[in-house]
Amino acid sequence: MKFFLDSAKVDEIDKAYHCYGIDGVTTNPKHIQNSGKPFLVALDDIAAWIKKNHLEGMDKFPVSVEINPHLDNADDMVEQGKKIAGRCPNFVIKIPCTLEGVKAAKRLEEAGVRTNLTLVFSSSQAIQAGRLGTKYVSPFVGWKESNGEDALAYMEQISNIYHEKGYKTEIIAAAIRTGKQIAEMAEIGVDIVTAGLAVYEDSFTHPYTTYGLGRFIDAWDHTEGN
Ligand code: E4P
Repeated sequence: MKFFLDSAKVDEIDKAYHCYGIDGVTTNPKHIQNSGKPFLVALDDIAAWIKKNHLEGMDKFPVSVEINPHLDNADDMVEQGKKIAGRCPNFVIKIPCTLEGVKAAKRLEEAGVRTNLTLVFSSSQAIQAGRLGTKYVSPFVGWKESNGEDALAYMEQISNIYHEKGYKTEIIAAAIRTGKQIAEMAEIGVDIVTAGLAVYEDSFTHPYTTYGLGRFIDAWDHTEGN
């Protein structure tokens, strides 16, 4: 299972990539806002980081970039998607799973621009991504769970349908909030998880690891001859 970082901050991308390895990045308008930079500046800074680290090419390090959320017709979505994709070979165009969004994703994929259908909250939406052969589909796990829904059963259903139908679209379990969710997604065979830096770092640690280390330090220090 691949790990994508959900962030538009270059320092976070750099840290996650060099400290423990990430396989790609997902962004959305909220992450761009949090980067403190205008949209195109944030994108170009990520593109420059990719170049500096010799990661050019979508297969090496895909970065999902979401189109302007105000766009509500396929023509405008396609036009902006093509422009964004032209800025960096790693950019995958993230499009909301609306009627116009599905139309735009179909046209972009036919034109050779890879897409990620996002804001997916039902299995029937995910099926459309699979049928169209978008590069990615992003069902949101954390938001579902916050809403009291069974996100695990939902992700299992999507994963089973994709295997049954042989869809090539990769499933990104989005808005992952906990290490438990990371493990659950791995268990059901989801292709990718995307989460923020803090979620990953929390998932690598455990209070008993810290406690155990304290005990072992004490034992080491009280061993004769050490
Ligand atoms: C996914 O691709 C989204 O960018 C992301 O997971 C959205 O969720 P969040 O910003 O609430 O974490």
